[in-house]
Amino acid sequence: MSTDTARFYVTTPIYYVNDRPHIGHVYTTTVADVLARYHRLRGDEVFFLTGTDEHAAKVVDSATDRGLSPQQWAGQNAAAFRDTFARLGMSNNDFIRTSEDRHKDKVLAYVEQLLASGDVYAGEYEGWYDAGQEEYIPENKAKEYDFRSPINNQPLVRKREKNYFFKLSAYRDRLLQLIEKDNPTFVQPEARRNEVLARIREGLNDVPISRTGTGGWGIPVPGDDEQSIYVWIDALFNYLTTVDTDDRIRYWPASVHLIAKDILWFHAVIWPALLMALDRPLPHQVYAHSFWIAEGQKMSKSLGNFIDLEKIDEYVTEFSLDALRYFLTTQGPMGATDADFAQDKFVAVYNSDLANAVGNCASRVTNMINRYFDGKLPPHGREFAVSHEYDRSAETAVAQYTEAMDRVHPAQAVEAAIKLIGDIDSYIEQTQPFRLAKDPENLPKVGTILYNCAEALRIASLLLWPVIPDAMEKLWERLGQTAYTQALANNGCGQFSRWIAWGQSKPDTPIAKGDPLFPRVEKS
Ligand code: MSP
Repeated sequence: MSTDTARFYVTTPIYYVNDRPHIGHVYTTTVADVLARYHRLRGDEVFFLTGTDEHAAKVVDSATDRGLSPQQWAGQNAAAFRDTFARLGMSNNDFIRTSEDRHKDKVLAYVEQLLASGDVYAGEYEGWYDAGQEEYIPENKAKEYDFRSPINNQPLVRKREKNYFFKLSAYRDRLLQLIEKDNPTFVQPEARRNEVLARIREGLNDVPISRTGTGGWGIPVPGDDEQSIYVWIDALFNYLTTVDTDDRIRYWPASVHLIAKDILWFHAVIWPALLMALDRPLPHQVYAHSFWIAEGQKMSKSLGNFIDLEKIDEYVTEFSLDALRYFLTTQGPMGATDADFAQDKFVAVYNSDLANAVGNCASRVTNMINRYFDGKLPPHGREFAVSHEYDRSAETAVAQYTEAMDRVHPAQAVEAAIKLIGDIDSYIEQTQPFRLAKDPENLPKVGTILYNCAEALRIASLLLWPVIPDAMEKLWERLGQTAYTQALANNGCGQFSRWIAWGQSKPDTPIAKGDPLFPRVEKS
């Protein structure tokens, strides 16, 4: 992914208000949060957006079933998403609801522009319609799916309506040029890119972008009150409407739209074509991850095995929010295959990476500095020979980490940080400071060793902060680095390149020990 300024704008899908938040929504938003925090740490100007998609027809139905107005029902559920994300520590800069005037007004203006340019025109449409997804399925696909919804298996319905169309067909060559040549990482991962390219090559039809009978729930097509703008088109515009103001437009184009593979086509094809038609700059990347399944099975309403909010809260209470973030980030389906949310795996990852690696290493280092140096960081002395290799290992970790984060591979980035923690442990095993310390003559050497350990731990803690911020801020208190916490509070900016340099810790800094950052969990 290329970002040509030190600005970073990351988005999540805006979620349907008909659903309750579940692990899938929390996952995409967590990955976006990790990326946002990483970029803030670097000192980039970050805008992180999530929100809710409210104009679906099923919102009207569910509201009616409950004796509520669509506004009330959407309001309740949007609040559930907003509160959940706040409670889970998401650092989004805004939360857009498509029912807000600031969104609707801009969508109207965009559609007016598209009508004026001829990119949107009136016509008639007939095709196979997936009512659950509010999506027409192309003839060949409908056949392949045996005329059933690939999502909920309900029969597709034959539908004919007057419609406004977007001239998608006119953008085929420009889309191919974009995805194949101009920006080869526009669609990631690679498997998704290939899928999109193959489908564009098959040909592109114009797409209907309006519907009737929404009972006033939705954004009307300018000049035609009978028709509302199709919910998907309305929704895609959120990424632009939110920042299309004088003080925010500098964030556009987005750096990365994070989504899952279910909504790839809209984001990788329709969205850039709409932007081309509006003559707006294109986002740098659409990253479509795969799905979480639960305990080896697809999550579904009928199986009742959704990792829902209650389940999520149980994990947070038992293991901590950081632990959940860590598991999602390191074990999640960022690639082309699905990932399994299984309790055994959660416990195993927690114990090996957080309790044993991060937690133990932090305890070991801070304990030894307390025991041998009275809780003050020792000077690094003259024994640099012993540390040379070690200081290089921090440098390697930082390079690998940064490279992986910039490719939107947070799991690989974390791996580099955990490897650095492992290097601290091996260094302690090799140099045996606890054995050397038995002879007071060795203290300068022990001091150097422990300085090096504390320094690498500090660097690892910076790398791990975007994923496990609470624990790392706790550790910064112990390492006398609360300045980091202050700089990063309230979406503040970090100074990664300065902080990350070897040798930043000042000798004599008070080093405190404390409770285990991640107490080991025994679980059958
Ligand atoms: N409202 C549309 C998106 C409009 S964006 C302009 C929508 N909403 S949704 O509520 O169905 O959310 C879909 C998104 O939720 C997926 O793209 C993904 O980000 C997340 N996930 C939902 N289920 C998921 C899994 N089982 N696993 C991982 N993420 C999933 O589509």
